[in-house]
Amino acid sequence: MGSKVGAAEKVRMKSLKSRILKMVKPTADELKSATYHANEIIARLKAVAPKNVEIVTAGSVARGTQVRGSYDIDVFLLFPKGEDERSMEMRGVALAKKIVDKSKKESFIIKYAEHPYVKILLEGGSISADIVPAFKIKNALDLGSAVDRTPLHNEFVNAHLSAKQKDDVRIFKALLKNHNVYGAEAQVRGFSGYLCELLIFYYGSFESLIGAFSRIKIPAIINIGNKTEVDPKSEQGTALLKRFESDFLVIDPTDVNRNVAASVSKQSIAKLVLVSKALARKPVIEVFNGVQYSSTLAKEKLLDFQKAMDFDIYLLAFSYDDIAEDIIWEQLTKLRLRINDLLSRNGFAPLQSFQNIRGGLCIAAFFINRIYNGCSIRRGPSVFMGDATEAFLKAHRESLGLFLQDDRVISLEKSEYADPEMLLLNLKSGRDFTIPSHIRPASRFVYMNKKIPEEHARLLYEAFEDAMITVF
Ligand code: UTP
Ligand code: MN
Repeated sequence: MGSKVGAAEKVRMKSLKSRILKMVKPTADELKSATYHANEIIARLKAVAPKNVEIVTAGSVARGTQVRGSYDIDVFLLFPKGEDERSMEMRGVALAKKIVDKSKKESFIIKYAEHPYVKILLEGGSISADIVPAFKIKNALDLGSAVDRTPLHNEFVNAHLSAKQKDDVRIFKALLKNHNVYGAEAQVRGFSGYLCELLIFYYGSFESLIGAFSRIKIPAIINIGNKTEVDPKSEQGTALLKRFESDFLVIDPTDVNRNVAASVSKQSIAKLVLVSKALARKPVIEVFNGVQYSSTLAKEKLLDFQKAMDFDIYLLAFSYDDIAEDIIWEQLTKLRLRINDLLSRNGFAPLQSFQNIRGGLCIAAFFINRIYNGCSIRRGPSVFMGDATEAFLKAHRESLGLFLQDDRVISLEKSEYADPEMLLLNLKSGRDFTIPSHIRPASRFVYMNKKIPEEHARLLYEAFEDAMITVF
């Protein structure tokens, strides 16, 4: 293992790790504060919850794998199984709302993941606690709702990771955060906290994980429970890949029916591979930190790039319904890909496309070469295909030019859209495709190059920077 990484790199990696750990390990004060608030919340919940509801802390704070400054206390309300899932969720949410102390200026938001939960903001918003209702289970086979496994995750991590490995989890999470691939949410499709814990357990340490990812091939199947990899080409491997419909399987040691890496995109894996290669070769802080995005002069930087590359930027802006951002993000992805396709079919294939959302505004942007299509080709059938040719000629008799091209008839016609702007301005929901339900078609705006408003430019620049690769 690590034959290409010399002794000097190993020493540098070690000193880099201790330097990072000083930044990512929570301070004694922070740990004290987290414990204090976790206990406070548990006490308040105990006072209002029925006796048969168990209250436990979970997540990274309970496991000692949180990164400094990520004040996120996860408290689970474990209901006895048997009750209907929806009514259990409603009771849990109601209990959580009861403990919010308005006199201390605390507030809450109800959030919807796979499952509703309540986020309480304490101490003026600097501390946040997620109260998650779930069923109490001893075995994943008893699963009643998606989050019921969490206490089992706690047990696994606490039983199998050493204090040193937990520190390595913190270092690994910080690396992923720096490179924007931490978190399973739709906008990121990166590595969740629990996945980080499992990968450190599997590879043993941060540096072994980095070494392995700098060489990893996908498809890959990692079975955490028995610490082995399954050959993707074997019979078992092929069956697993098919069953989970994924190229990267990390099987949950608490539930063999769950791929913990299910929401990791191929692009997120690829990003980690690039970062791992760079870090293995050059274990320095610059690589670890990555390039930090700065939104100042976003528009200017975008326009510089646009001019240097000599293409046009088209940006579509919409407003969207006030629902979970994960859902909007997925709808926006669909919409962007459909527009990409429509542009390509009309001769304006985008060089790159990007999307982003924030605070009610979503954008899809396309980098497209300067193309003016006065005329386009419509290809008809071969003359050997029965009456189809005749029908085509009849239908296109008003065409400005009908020709034979080999055995097929073609019609040259004035393009429906001479340039991308015309196409984008004339997008018709229902005719071109259906605009997804939570994106408001009537709110559409189309901007080009320097007409793009500052706020929109910032959203685009953020997505653009995130997609750019830095060579170290
Ligand atoms: P968190 O998202 O808070 O993750 O979910 P975390 O491990 O505490 O990481 P950070 O440090 O806050 O970023 C809390 C726990 O809920 C379970 C996992 O066990 C996770 O550790 N969980 C979360 C799931 O099982 N599925 C999910 O989709 C999300
Ligand atoms: Mn957490």
